[in-house]
Amino acid sequence: MKVHSITPRIYAIHADIRSDDLFEGIWPIPYGVSLNSYLVKGEKIALIDLVRDWVGAPGELAGQLAAARTSLSDIDYLILNHLEPDHTGWLGEFLEINKKAIILATAKGIELVNNFYFEHERVRAVKNGETLDLGAGQVLQFFETPNVHWPETMMTWALDGGVLFSCDGFGSFGALGDRVFDDEFSAEEHEFFEAESLRYYANIVASFGLFVKRAVDKLSNLQIKVVAPSHGIIWREHPEMIIERYLRYADYLEGSREKEIAIVWGSMYGNTENGLQHVIEGIEEEQVPYTIHRVPNDNVSWVLADAYKSEGIVIAMPTYEYKMFPPMAYVLDIFERKHVWYRKALRIGSFGWVGGAKKEYEAKIAQLKWDSLEPVEWAGAPDEETAELLRERGRELARLVKGA
Ligand code: FEO
Repeated sequence: MKVHSITPRIYAIHADIRSDDLFEGIWPIPYGVSLNSYLVKGEKIALIDLVRDWVGAPGELAGQLAAARTSLSDIDYLILNHLEPDHTGWLGEFLEINKKAIILATAKGIELVNNFYFEHERVRAVKNGETLDLGAGQVLQFFETPNVHWPETMMTWALDGGVLFSCDGFGSFGALGDRVFDDEFSAEEHEFFEAESLRYYANIVASFGLFVKRAVDKLSNLQIKVVAPSHGIIWREHPEMIIERYLRYADYLEGSREKEIAIVWGSMYGNTENGLQHVIEGIEEEQVPYTIHRVPNDNVSWVLADAYKSEGIVIAMPTYEYKMFPPMAYVLDIFERKHVWYRKALRIGSFGWVGGAKKEYEAKIAQLKWDSLEPVEWAGAPDEETAELLRERGRELARLVKGA
């Protein structure tokens, strides 16, 4: 097996997970995801972040350690930046194999080691700013970065080499294959990983944008040469690129979003869909870019990513049994949980015998703090007058988005 060197004493180890399993039990990973761990070899040996027993990840870990002339039982310190089980699920087995390693984590992290894995003895809490000297010039320093994205999260900094082990921060979906460094991927591949990093951020980190900014502030004095996250590409040529990208994503929470419109629609018999075509005509007349997703056909993971970056949103759905079209109710619930707030929004939709989505929808968007245009609802199929109104609303929304 091959292992990648970041410096002569720091190695990147990764397991590509290709599975129909959902990440966090929610998010599809059709292009896979990598679980990255890092080996730091001084006189003592540290492993940063572990794996779960998932599609052969422990075997990859052991094999790549062997390629770095190290075995699992050689590890002196297991540093757990974050306790979510994608990075720790195999901890019990690891502790069975390795009888000497001490687990280092924040105090909150140690609580989670206790809660998840019932390990109380071989643990040591580290404080913000504390250093660990491994010998042979390898000094690690720990920085608490709470809520990126769990409260116990920290990042580990290798002074020799300027490597930031950032755990989920600066991570991405997408398996890596044989290459791991940013300078090894083509522009086209970077485009793919950019889309997957936005989807990862929107799905996993979105609610914690403020904490992402705090973490970047806290680390601003470090001369970061390499960003080494626990998922996705390792950034050694342009580490600033992924940091700036994450700051841009964090800004989406409060403003500075893309001047685009995310259209989310569902239709039972085509009448809402027909009405939506007129809205789209209006948006296109104003030349505002848009993305479009049908629910429930498109998974909410991608819907969320496009809504997260966009200033404008169109919600097109029929009334269903006096209430919102159920798949859209789910999408709006996810939007609320993931803080898709302060958008410029338009709701349209067809109803059969009576409308009714209005009350439920308005209660939901009050939570989302959306600024809404006058909705357009119609009975049955949209007539010519309704069609013109829909086109005008499309133009109006597009103009608002352009002016934002
Ligand atoms: Fe990759 Fe939050 O665990």
